[in-house]
Amino acid sequence: MSFDDRRFRDALGAFPTGVAIVSGVTPDGERLGMTVSSFNSVSVAPPLVLFSVARRANSFTAWTELPRYAINILSAQQEELSNRFARPRSDKWADLMVLDGEAGVPILPNALATFECEPYARYDGGDHEIFVGRVIALRTTPHKQDLPLIFFGGRYRRLDTGFHDIPPRDASIFEGW
Ligand SMILES: Cc1cc2nc3c(=O)[nH]c(=O)nc-3n(C[C@H](O)[C@H](O)[C@H](O)COP(=O)(O)O)c2cc1C
Repeated sequence: MSFDDRRFRDALGAFPTGVAIVSGVTPDGERLGMTVSSFNSVSVAPPLVLFSVARRANSFTAWTELPRYAINILSAQQEELSNRFARPRSDKWADLMVLDGEAGVPILPNALATFECEPYARYDGGDHEIFVGRVIALRTTPHKQDLPLIFFGGRYRRLDTGFHDIPPRDASIFEGW
């Protein structure tokens, strides 16, 4: 190969993503949570979303055994929360305000959107595994002006001045998408 891991990772950083925390509770009652940038939409009917989990994550096996989990999309105000859930083995949930989702999954207040899911499929993704969830409940922020936390170039970014709409030259490409 003509590139090393560092160059590969740097090139991947050219694709901006949001930041999410996946949350869940094991059958033993232990809460799990993990920061991910690998969230994406998959299907509208049935409603499917995905994220990927590193096989080396401490909680990897526990994620594969959850009966339900939730994906919480973080706002620009939730950088601290993102860091907290990106640290291995710490007590990520200590002193944290948590809500009970409609489907019984612990979810994070003030997320831009939360998708509670049942596991739908898992696929090999090399040193990660791809989790596809079927959305069974969702919640969105009532604060329409809230902005997302963004991950780009290996760092968090904020849209400090808000979105700048680009008037579409050909609006038909967004129709029904
Ligand atoms: C912005 C950001 C995005 C991340 N995205 C992912 C991801 O998509 N998949 C993943 O497995 N780890 C991702 N991580 C790393 C995990 O959050 C981190 O390894 C976490 O500590 C794993 O938890 P655990 O080891 O306690 O299971 C990300 C970290 C950050 C800061």
